[in-house]
Amino acid sequence: MEKIVIFGKGGIGKSTVAANLSAVYALEGRKVIHVGCDPKHDSTVSLVDGDMIETFMEKHSRVFGIRDRQNLGAKDLLVRGRLGIDCIEAGGPEPGVGCAGRGISMMLEAFADLDILKAGSYDIGVFDVLGDVVCGGFAAPLRKGFAEKIVIVISEELMALYAANNIAKSVRTYASNGVYLAGLVANLKDGKSDRKKLEKYAKIIGTRILEYVPRDPAVREAEFARDRTVVERAPKCAFAKSIRSLAAKILTVKKEKCPIPKPMNDKQFYGGW
Ligand SMILES: Nc1ncnc2c1ncn2[C@@H]1O[C@H](COP(=O)(O)OP(=O)(O)O)[C@@H](O)[C@H]1O
Ligand SMILES: [Mg+2]
Repeated sequence: MEKIVIFGKGGIGKSTVAANLSAVYALEGRKVIHVGCDPKHDSTVSLVDGDMIETFMEKHSRVFGIRDRQNLGAKDLLVRGRLGIDCIEAGGPEPGVGCAGRGISMMLEAFADLDILKAGSYDIGVFDVLGDVVCGGFAAPLRKGFAEKIVIVISEELMALYAANNIAKSVRTYASNGVYLAGLVANLKDGKSDRKKLEKYAKIIGTRILEYVPRDPAVREAEFARDRTVVERAPKCAFAKSIRSLAAKILTVKKEKCPIPKPMNDKQFYGGW
């Protein structure tokens, strides 16, 4: 099974990229599980029919209180989405209350207890994980042996690269768990921006840009329609083409070709490069 983890700064396009990747893999006939690890719990919206799914945290407070945890099966936690994709969202506490990272940790503990990834005989797991991994909760997929192939979504903006740098630090920290950085996805805000700067950044931290994803109005249209992913709605658009290309490239990346990343320290990062 390929465990692909999409990391990146909030709002950078993780869920958009992750959900469309899951759809591409499923359309190719693969058995996919899609795991949203963000309190925003919107990663699976385009993969299921109808409303947003009940999150793990919502189920946890509703179901786990009245039933023996031992009796819970994967079926109780997963929602079968379109294209046969099994979906789950960690969810999180009410804003301002509690710790969102804890929800992710608890969900992954349930994954381990129920052996969900093995039981489902999945070909691919796509994990969509918030943040720049300053909070250890968001690094739970790296710590607990769920993550393998890490893909970081960036843009041409400096703060997106700062977040990527932090994520690369946590990949380095957990490299002994088998975690490796497969590469970066440049989800461009401006098609005319300087790609050389991004190539340089990738080189400095010891990785590569896997794909340049263009801004595409088809993404916004799909987001408003909320019925399907972009690759299903508009398979010929530039965004869909880039996601299919990315999906293929992610699968061909070999761990041996991915050295432990060399993130910059803050002084280097802000020192100009
Ligand atoms: N390539 C793109 N073209 C157009 N809009 C995009 C693109 N990528 C992301 N967006 C939009 O940017 C917003 C944030 O994307 P989202 O995937 O929710 O980010 P994240 O999951 O990282 O928080 C969404 O409104 C999404 O539709
Ligand atoms: Mg998201």
